[in-house]
Amino acid sequence: MINTKGGVGKTTTAICMAELSRGRTVLVDATQDKNLKAYYQVPPKKRKHKIRENLDLISISSSPGLRSALPYPFVIIDTQPFLNELTFHIAKNSDIIIIPCIYDLWAIESAKICIEALSRYSQRICLLPTKYRWYWKKHHQRFGVMREMIGIEMLEPIPFIRSVENISFDGTISNTNILKYYRKSLEGFYETIL
Ligand SMILES: Nc1ncnc2c1ncn2[C@@H]1O[C@H](COP(=O)(O)OP(=O)(O)OP(=O)(O)O)[C@@H](O)[C@H]1O
Ligand SMILES: [Mg+2]
Repeated sequence: MINTKGGVGKTTTAICMAELSRGRTVLVDATQDKNLKAYYQVPPKKRKHKIRENLDLISISSSPGLRSALPYPFVIIDTQPFLNELTFHIAKNSDIIIIPCIYDLWAIESAKICIEALSRYSQRICLLPTKYRWYWKKHHQRFGVMREMIGIEMLEPIPFIRSVENISFDGTISNTNILKYYRKSLEGFYETIL
């Protein structure tokens, strides 16, 4: 998950993808804030944590740390909202870059900057519109702007979910709504990678 804009849903998407993953998966927290660790209530100093059968969480702060994800067939990486050496290293070593993006002009600008900076490193970059309010005309227009981003695969938008806060920081995704939308959005996508 990469976008230099904060608050676009990188961490939420990483959690939902991990919760929907069926194979042996590792979630990699490559952020400074360590939101994933907080979400799964991992003690700050612990670098590796078993969330459940087939799902581990590791936390890294530099490029060599990414080696610890090598034994896992599925690796989902949450990054921080800026492009630094670690983010570039992650981009170079990822099969797919997902750019979550909200319907805000600055977020779209940030997505464009990321696409420009990272397209030479990755075969596949997907834009994932998040917090989509389908009943807002403005969002439909911005949807058009996103579609015009040449050569970029676009996933089904994730709607704005008012009760999303309920899923935070209790270690379980109790709001099945959000998972339902992520399942739908990523359906075809999983078929192409599994
Ligand atoms: N579909 C959604 N509907 C409503 N709120 C959402 C949705 N997805 C995420 N949020 C909320 O938006 C906020 C930001 O989401 P998140 O932390 O996943 O973004 P981020 O890109 O990881 O931010 P940062 O760059 O600061 O790490 C959180 O409070 C989260 O609960
Ligand atoms: Mg985050």
